[in-house]
Amino acid sequence: MDYYRIQGGTPLEGSVRISGAKNAALPIIVASLLADGETVLENVPNLMDIRTIIRVIEYLGARTEFDTQRNLLRIRVESLKNAEVPYELVKTMRASIYVMGPLLARTGESTVSLPGGCAIGERPVDIHLSGFEAMGARIDLEHGNIRASASSLSGAQFAMRKVSVGATANLMMAAVLAKGTTVLENCAMEPDVVDLGSFLMKMGARISGLGTDRIEIEGVEKLSPVTYSVIPDRIEAGTFLIAGAITRGKITINGVIPDHIAALLGTLGEMGYRVESGNDWVSVSPTNRITGTIVRTHPFPGFPTDLQAPIMTLGSTSPGLHVVIETIFENRFTHVPELRRMGADITIEGNVAIARGVESLSAAPVMMSDLRAGAALVLAALQAKGITEIRRIYHCDRGYEDLDGKLRSIGAVIERVSGGSF
Ligand code: EPZ
Repeated sequence: MDYYRIQGGTPLEGSVRISGAKNAALPIIVASLLADGETVLENVPNLMDIRTIIRVIEYLGARTEFDTQRNLLRIRVESLKNAEVPYELVKTMRASIYVMGPLLARTGESTVSLPGGCAIGERPVDIHLSGFEAMGARIDLEHGNIRASASSLSGAQFAMRKVSVGATANLMMAAVLAKGTTVLENCAMEPDVVDLGSFLMKMGARISGLGTDRIEIEGVEKLSPVTYSVIPDRIEAGTFLIAGAITRGKITINGVIPDHIAALLGTLGEMGYRVESGNDWVSVSPTNRITGTIVRTHPFPGFPTDLQAPIMTLGSTSPGLHVVIETIFENRFTHVPELRRMGADITIEGNVAIARGVESLSAAPVMMSDLRAGAALVLAALQAKGITEIRRIYHCDRGYEDLDGKLRSIGAVIERVSGGSF
């Protein structure tokens, strides 16, 4: 298995172009199943998770062509041949649950293997299922599969007990072809959900309230395939800004929507970094007042849980105390023991992590446990004294396009080494 070899201590300088957003592209690719004909998606990142969801829709009957050089994905839907997604596909990626909404809407039926727990928490799907039930579907759980069926879906009023990105997206995809009006309350306002909604509207869906906590959808008879460009990835953008910050270099990220990372930019400002931004770029550079701060994860527009591990890593190398409160997932501190191996001084109390800043981390062999925890280790290694080897980098392949190549282009000394025994 491949691993990263990173020589830390070089301040990163230069500019990086940010790729399309994984978490917007995933539901949009699935939503293409809602219309017959050819959908063309631009700015689709070439990632393992994207290749997995492509396999899922192909299994269901779509034909695809992914030009990874141009990040262009063509999806052709003529008829759906399966309404069932097997465990082999779901177990590698929870986002496979997204097929339930479109399949129910189009075929009146869908069976998806129930996703198990995962590295960052229990992650139930009860809100997705209650929403489908509210729209008239019957849900049966048997042999590890969730089967949803409905002779026809009808519009409904449904309030989500907790803000959920996945449930908001899945229910929107079901409601666009349902009979009548659906009102979803306590919706996720994440840019990924808004991007899915914009795609659906371009296909002919009637949706209002995108980007607010109340979304209203008036079902239509039919949707048409379109050409659409996916938004930039705010988490990749944030990860690169933190890479610049942790090495006390100056990084500019291009092709981004600064409003999508406002909470991070505010936090970096509090930590003593100078933040400048334009229409589609942001740059961050250090001042001589670097310090820790308090970060609490929250649904959008709050601080994203997906940048919690990266910002903790930055805090653990900033003078003073840095406090991180994780409110979204119950087990999202798996990077902490690995960071400790590299000399970080972090104490955990329930969902609160307190870092006492150290001047420098020191290289040690470490392992990724999930995508964002993995990014945190890369950031730590960029700062650390010595050469760090990071294993299980397939976690980062799921969500960062050409991570090592992009880091090298701004001066990082990072090598992806093939082979290795674990
Ligand atoms: C999405 O996951 C993202 N994944 C995650 O990114 C991200 O961390 C998360 O949203 C929060 O922003 C994709 O978009 C593919 P949720 P999702 O439903 O939709 C609970 C990454 O690294 N909940 O918003 O699964 C849940 O357990 C990944 O790119 C229920 O209780 O997250 C969590 O505590 C990791 N019942 C909270 O809600 C449900 O039915 C928010 O989860 C659904 C969720």
